Parts: sequence; structure tokens; C-alpha cells
Amino acid sequence: MKKNEIIKNVVVEKLVFWWKWFARLKSDNKDIDWKAIFISGWVVPGSVVNIRILKSRKDYIEAQSQELVKKSPLEKEHPNNPFGMQAWLARANIPYDEQLKIKAWQVEESIFHLKKFQNDLVVSPIVPSPIIDWYRNKIEFSFWKYISAKEWKNEHFNLWFHKQWEFSKIQDFDWTILISEVANKIFKEIKDFAKASWLPVYDQFDQKWFFRHIVIRQAFFTNQIMVIFSINHKYLDVIPAEAGIYKKGNDNLIDPRVEHKDNIMEKIKAFLNKLALKYSEIKSIYLSLNDNRSDTSIWELELIYGNEFIEEKLLWLTFNISPKSFFQTNSYGAEKLYNEVLNLVNSEQWIVNNDWNLWTVLDLYGWTWTIGMVFAPHSKKVISVELVTDASKDGEANANKNGIKNMEFINAKVEDFLDDYIKKWEKAELLIIDPPRTGMHPDALPNILKFWTKQIIYVSCNPATLSRDLSFILQNSDYKIEKIIPVDMFPHTSHIETIVSLTKS
Ligand SMILES: C[S@@+](CC[C@H](N)C(=O)[O-])C[C@H]1O[C@@H](n2cnc3c(N)ncnc32)[C@H](O)[C@@H]1O
Repeated sequence: MKKNEIIKNVVVEKLVFWWKWFARLKSDNKDIDWKAIFISGWVVPGSVVNIRILKSRKDYIEAQSQELVKKSPLEKEHPNNPFGMQAWLARANIPYDEQLKIKAWQVEESIFHLKKFQNDLVVSPIVPSPIIDWYRNKIEFSFWKYISAKEWKNEHFNLWFHKQWEFSKIQDFDWTILISEVANKIFKEIKDFAKASWLPVYDQFDQKWFFRHIVIRQAFFTNQIMVIFSINHKYLDVIPAEAGIYKKGNDNLIDPRVEHKDNIMEKIKAFLNKLALKYSEIKSIYLSLNDNRSDTSIWELELIYGNEFIEEKLLWLTFNISPKSFFQTNSYGAEKLYNEVLNLVNSEQWIVNNDWNLWTVLDLYGWTWTIGMVFAPHSKKVISVELVTDASKDGEANANKNGIKNMEFINAKVEDFLDDYIKKWEKAELLIIDPPRTGMHPDALPNILKFWTKQIIYVSCNPATLSRDLSFILQNSDYKIEKIIPVDMFPHTSHIETIVSLTKS
């Protein structure tokens, strides 16, 4: 078995890590009979695939799925999604109850080895997302000219999400089950406008030309929409030379040399203003004047309609969302997640009759600061630590908006912050940790065990690093895992959140 060799007709058994599937190679050759195979790529358990070997080791093979031979019996075309499985929709063809089973099983599997440290571990039933389709409150589409960099199909016009795993592949479509009906309509109108105009789509390879991104943010609880239209305005300065070249391959295009650049910008703004009048949900429109070489959608922002921000509500809190704001992408799901966290703390016996009076809550990896804010009314003080400065500024503004005066926002690396915290012998009754995919930094993890706290709530978006960090905690302290709750915030994707409550006996 060598690298790049193709193995045909492999039956996929299950998901092992959040991005890798497991299969067994059944062979007449005794040396490799029932060898373990780890497959990357978008496959479904039960499907039969041809795979290409990436690594061949004594005990296992790592491979990439190459071709689908037979669909899994689990796979059914999603009734509202004719576009197949793509980034953010990698599991759309698996019915939702099966998606949940896969995710719950994945959490079970990743904590299984912890039973040697605590044998009574039980994973609670997975909490489904309150909405399954049309749930994202933010989406980012990229204009793109090519179906694939390799195949170089020179299509004039395509739109697709921001880069995901397969950056070079692009699919054109008019709507997606990820966003609401009205967000889809707005997207389609902008797309049609762009397509009907003579202006060219930005080319990431050549780093020139015009249309770049459409970003739509929708506050679900207030039904307010923000649109950000990103264009490379600098293109308009060089139109005459460029237009001639561009026109050669596209006979239908109007010669851009007849329009002055100011007129072009006026036409775009007029179109966007008309759009706002047609859709009353639109409360804010920005142009992003974007000649940045990297594929980023937010650059020099010009507010051309409405307010600087839209407002979203979560539980009893109201948040301003500006183009750069960080916010959980599934608003209904976020409420569910925070309620689960609240219940876990509420169920603690040291809170009597729902009468909370926590002294200090320490919220590590704050990001949108929402978890910290949820605890603010129940505590004397909430300290929230986050690395990204813009996120910290957002947090402070939103705390002010909600009249929260007992939150301290610390803009620092958690590992540095904790070093100081333990030197001061500080304590925190409740410690909330919500780290990025990589889990807790190895310099930070031991330090959370060096100060007194009654309960730790660990919210994780990666079962593998969660399990690694829990293993350390169980082996190096007298904390016990009290509850493990998987929460699905991202239907149709491989992402799963897990909340773990740890207390001291
Ligand atoms: C999963 S998000 C936190 C979500 C947040 N608790 C919420 O409810 O919205 C992880 C956050 O950790 C931040 N982060 C990553 N590494 C960090 C570090 N070393 N120190 C502090 N914050 C960090 C990231 O910027 C990101 O905002």
C-alpha cells in the first residue's frame, strides 16, 4: 500500500474525529486484512467510496475520499437544498435526527477514555438547534470568476461562500438554506444587479477587477438586517485599459468607458437605497471600499443607508451589531446554549432558591462577552478576558447599553492573565472557559487549578481538545465532571458545542 494508491469500494463506518471518518480495509492479504483507515473528505457513514492513500503506516492508513461509489442509505437529498453537500452544508443530505446521532456519538467517543479517571461519566441527550434550516444570522458570499482554479472554467460570474476547506471550488446559486427567506431575497437582488451590470467580478488570482463580497447580517429577534457590499473601487480608476481586455471575452458587456466613475458609484448607491425601501427589514447598508489584496470583506466602510449598527436581543440583553462585530451566528441556538449554562449553575446547591449571589465570575475567552453578561445580574463582579481588542471594545459598549456596571473587560492572553491572577491569590466562585478550537493553552490550563473556584463550566467547540483538557483536570485536581451536554448550534455542519460542568466533591 503506497502513497497515492487508490483503494476501491471502501465502506465508511463512522466518524472518529470531527473531520475524519473511519473504515476498515477488508482484504485477502492477511497483512492488511481489517486495517484501520482514517478518511478525510465529505462522506457519510454507510457510503461506499474509492479513496486515495495519503499515508500508509503499519497499523493504519490515512486517506482522502476520491469518488463516491454508492450513496449511504442514510443519505437523502434535503428537500430544500438542491445544491448538494458543500462547506457549511457538509451534512445537509443526512436527515437531522441522524446528524444529531452522529454528533452525540462523537462526543461520547471523545470522552470515553476519561472513564478511567471517573467511571460514572454519562453524556446527556444532545440539545438540538431550535431551527434547523435558515438559521445563520450572518453570511458572507464571495464573487468569483472560476468554477475551479485547476479546471479553469472561465465562467463570467459565480457567487459562493467565503473560503472554506476547498477554496478553489466555487458553485453558483441563487439561495441557500442557511439564511432566512428575506436574506435570500436580498442576496438574489444584489446578485442580479451585479450580474446585469457590465462591471467585472474581482479576480483573486490577478487581484483586480470589481465586485468582491456580499455580507448579510440579520438580527433574528428584532428582524433587522445589515447589508455590506464589498467592491474594489480602485478598479474604476483604471477602467479604460482594463475594460478593453475584459470586453473581448464578453460580447454582451456595455463598454464601460462611456460612464464616469462617479456615475457608476451613484448608480450602485441608488440601487442599494432602493433595496432598503423595498425591504423594510434593512436598517443599515455599507459599502466596503476594498482594494485589500487578502480575501477580506470588511475594509474601508462607507455607511450609505440607515444606522451604523443593527440591534439583536439575546435573553434579556440587547446588543449593537456593527459590520465588524463578533456575534454567535445562530441567535436561537445561542439562547439555548446560554440557558443550558445558566441551568447548570442554577442547579448547584450553593445557589438557594434561585437566589444567586456569586462573588466573582471569571469568564475566560470572552469574545462577544455574552456569557459573562448573562451572569452579571447574578454576581458582584464578572471578569471577562479576551485577546481581540475590537471584541473587547464591543463588549464594553454592549455592557453599557445594558446598564451592566459590574463587568471588567480585560484585553489579554488568558495564559498571561492567569499568571497574574494566581500570583494575587484571587479566587472565583464560577469559572467559565470557552476557548477556541485548539482548547486551552498549555501554559493556562494548570493555572486554572491553582485558585479556588466552586464550579467550572467548560464550553467547547472541539470534542477532541475538550477531552484532552478534561483529562488533565481530572488527573490533577479533585474536580469531578457533573454533566456533559452536547448542544447543536450548527445543523448541517460537522460542528458541535459541548458544555461540561465540573464541581468539587
Ligand atoms: C469560542 S470563542 C469564545 C466565545 C464566547 N465565550 C461567546 O460566548 O461568544 C473563543 C475566543 O477566544 C479568543 N482567544 C483565542 N486565544 C486566546 C488567548 N490565548 N487568550 C484570550 N483569548 C483568546 C478568541 O479571540 C475568541 O474570541
